Amino acid sequence: MNDLAIFSLTDEHKMIRDAARDFAQSEIAPIAAELDESGEFPQKTVKKMGALGFMGIEVPEQYGGAGLDTLAYVLALEEICRADAAHGVIMSVNNSLYCHGILKFGTEEQKKKFITPVASGKAVGAYSLTEPTSGSDAANMKSRATRDGDSYVLNGRKSWVTSGPVAEYVVVFMMTNPEKKQKGVSAFLLEANTPGLVRGKKEPKLGIRASATSELIFDNVRVPAENLLGQEGEGFKIAMTVLDVGRIGIAAQALGIAEAAYEAARQYAGQREAFGQPIGAFQGTGFKIADMKTRIEAARLLLYNAALKKERSKTSGERFSQEAAMAKLFASETAMYVTHAALQIHGGMGYSKELPVERYFRDAKITEIYEGTSEIQRLVISRQELGLK
Ligand code: CAA
Repeated sequence: MNDLAIFSLTDEHKMIRDAARDFAQSEIAPIAAELDESGEFPQKTVKKMGALGFMGIEVPEQYGGAGLDTLAYVLALEEICRADAAHGVIMSVNNSLYCHGILKFGTEEQKKKFITPVASGKAVGAYSLTEPTSGSDAANMKSRATRDGDSYVLNGRKSWVTSGPVAEYVVVFMMTNPEKKQKGVSAFLLEANTPGLVRGKKEPKLGIRASATSELIFDNVRVPAENLLGQEGEGFKIAMTVLDVGRIGIAAQALGIAEAAYEAARQYAGQREAFGQPIGAFQGTGFKIADMKTRIEAARLLLYNAALKKERSKTSGERFSQEAAMAKLFASETAMYVTHAALQIHGGMGYSKELPVERYFRDAKITEIYEGTSEIQRLVISRQELGLK
């Protein structure tokens, strides 16, 4: 990685980046291919990531986290994803989609009860917004939460829940007032073993196969009214605010995948010979290397800028939706470009499961889809540019 003239990393940043790199390369990289093949959730290494503070990097220590800043989070996540993007999304969802929302909108009691076990890595958290018939049009949900005395009763079917099969805690978004559309959505916190909550089928996936993804089915799930996160009707705003942070995490994931694929391609281009010279000496390969490197560094700049803007928002309160969307859009398209080029440079070996390059290629694709497709990122960016929202 180049030293970036416009971002200076503190000793603390370098320490967490190096700790994440050491751990990822020594403990995750060697098992990534096997986990990709089996699709088994990496319980042991996720627990170790918790012990190292990676599951709640920005969460204050009083709630079980590491108490570091957004750049520290991004640097650590990028390193984990260079080794394995499946571990990366488990870490990203835990930090961004789960802990962040409770930290920002939760009461003191909610923070203690719902953040502490998850930020400390003793338990896994999930975020449940999408439904079988509503993905990009997130407010068009069918799930309903009805107030009944001191409780809410939750009914509906949620899909594509990262860590759904294993999470102990869930933040779920349901309609409390359908007539109000976006302003009728509310957010609830609950333990996954609450009666009536059933984990549905585990999705068989193209990539990030060791991360577990499933439906969650809510059949008259009763939660106390104190589990409402924020105010009734505030759920859509909470879901979107949290996704801004999540998108920074996915940009870091995409960058990590791209870096891993790039490094493999760079080395191969220097070693593999054809027609009497290393293939990197042919302009067709050399120019690919140049474009891969340039796009990676541009993605990094957008990502770190979004991270710094998010950090600043802790005091200024300003939104960073556009910066997060640009970072995710560019980093995910870079991950696709770079993994595609890396596979091509490797030729037949790139297509073989003997090397991790085909896994990087499969893992990259999801970064253009989840936490808002590239089309949704373009919508967010253009609406702001055109003053449409
Ligand atoms: N921060 C704060 N508030 C926001 C916001 C944000 N980022 N985005 C929108 N809002 C607010 C708006 O200001 C507006 O409030 P007011 O009416 O008070 O002004 C309200 O929310 C409604 O906004 P919109 O009219 O823009 O809403 P919309 O219905 O047109 O939706 C959208 C906008 C950008 C398309 C949004 O629906 C969206 O981001 N969709 C994609 C959803 C998504 O990313 N899903 C992925 C789910 S998670 C996942 O992938 C699985 C996993 O586990 C990893």
